[in-house]
Amino acid sequence: MSKRDFLSTADLTRHELDDLLDLAARVKGKRPGQVMAGKTLGLLFFQPSLRTRVSFEVAMVQLGGHVINLSADDLYELEPQDQAVMNGPAEEHVKDAARTLSRYVDALGIRAASRTGTWERDRQELLLRSYAKYSSVPVINLETCFAHPCQALADMLTLRENLVSLKGRKLTLLWCNHPEPKSLGPTHSVLHLAALMGMNVTLAHPLGFEVDQQVLDESRRMAGDAGGSLQVVNDMRAAADGAEVVYARSWGCTKYWDDAEREAMVKRSLQDWKVDEALMATTKDALLMHPLPVRRNVAASDAVLDGKRSLIYEQAANRAHVQKALLMQLLK
Ligand code: CP
Repeated sequence: MSKRDFLSTADLTRHELDDLLDLAARVKGKRPGQVMAGKTLGLLFFQPSLRTRVSFEVAMVQLGGHVINLSADDLYELEPQDQAVMNGPAEEHVKDAARTLSRYVDALGIRAASRTGTWERDRQELLLRSYAKYSSVPVINLETCFAHPCQALADMLTLRENLVSLKGRKLTLLWCNHPEPKSLGPTHSVLHLAALMGMNVTLAHPLGFEVDQQVLDESRRMAGDAGGSLQVVNDMRAAADGAEVVYARSWGCTKYWDDAEREAMVKRSLQDWKVDEALMATTKDALLMHPLPVRRNVAASDAVLDGKRSLIYEQAANRAHVQKALLMQLLK
């Protein structure tokens, strides 16, 4: 964590992660009281959300604080580039919006996960980073196309509750099909944190759905430092073999990031990239994870999602607990 923002899992140390998860476990066991009384959290959603929005609201309200929720429809179109000549559609610069909001709220959460251009542009998280630069209050990443750190925190708490020790456990992070282009946020953040935990991570995807090289390099280094490993395979059956956790998630094709039709065409031949009972039977009785929302019977079958080894609702529930811990750390 830098500047008391929470933007990425890349710069989290193992010590910081353990501290956050320990605090989340404590607040889950026993409500800490009205520690956010008098404080306001501003949430800006430029994309839809169910879990992130509700879990942050519930977290803040249960801690005695207040929430202001704004969606893209409530806001002026924003310009994130410094020194832009604003003669286009953008009515307000992020600099002015961030500096203004900082005078009203104690922290800001921002979801900005859309595709706005090429991968090279979108991977820079311009809107989020501009808010973080100009805001004088902590900024929390509620998901960009590049990172979803709050989701990964909840996932690590869920894994810790179910497996106790994560070091050396085999987690397969498996691409699955989806009719729409999806963000790489959850994938990148789970890669980072599973590696930081010393898990043996297998990343499985079809050719063409490579994750960002920087995230791959960072995760490899983190896994190595923590006594774990990271391998990439293009065969889902090989990846499932011996897995103790299957984390299913679809993500977009960075090569065709600005060409959704081309991506959809590529995905038409990848419909067997789906988690079903036959695939799960080849694992080591694996737990099944997915960050939701999920396309049932496209990405994963009903039987698997509703099965005894599915953790999908535990992951969703833990969003509120880790976010309470995060708010308490950022606003202490
Ligand atoms: N997993 C997740 O972030 O869900 P929402 O998109 O509903 O917030």
